[in-house]
Amino acid sequence: MGFKVIVLAIFAVLMTSCGGEGKKEEKVSAPAKEQKAAIEEIDPMKDKGIGPITSLTLGEIDQKMADEGKAIFTTKCTACHKISKRLIGPALVGVTERRTPEWIMNMILNPEVMVVENAAAKKLLEEYLAPMANQNLTEEEARLVLEYFRTKTSETDE
Ligand code: HEC
Repeated sequence: MGFKVIVLAIFAVLMTSCGGEGKKEEKVSAPAKEQKAAIEEIDPMKDKGIGPITSLTLGEIDQKMADEGKAIFTTKCTACHKISKRLIGPALVGVTERRTPEWIMNMILNPEVMVVENAAAKKLLEEYLAPMANQNLTEEEARLVLEYFRTKTSETDE
């Protein structure tokens, strides 16, 4: 009789531990999957990314700002980026036509978080393998670089 009790006890322990784990896994994975799908469905022209820039309204292109942005880009970004060609990072021609201004500035100012938490940036990291570097630009400098990018659209650049 003692033997039977032990066998039953072991059986009971196995049942509860298996059942418990199974349920737990289900609870965690289902919502995570839904969340992932929701993030990936975001229209890139509505995706503002993650970082200090939450809202930005652009006016006409300011050529003086664009020129200052070009100088910053040349010193801080050209180790990895060219405008018209892929280098370590993507070609940046037309970037303002495929990303929101907020997303672009957040990618410049907060790349460490963007490549981990923003689906579009994560996808880029998967493709380019090297992570985008934080060059410690101020918000003002990032805004000038954005103005420069606005002058490099697919129509004005080959
Ligand atoms: C060490 C290399 C490196 C430097 C320096 C660098 N980047 Fe990047 N950048 C990347 C890589 C690689 C990616 C693609 C995402 C990834 O892999 O993390 C990227 C992505 C980007 C993107 C998104 C492009 C797209 O197609 O959506 C923008 C915008 C960008 N970088 C701007 C800049 C600017 C502006 C600077 C200078 C302040 C800069 N980067 C400096 C490597 C770099």
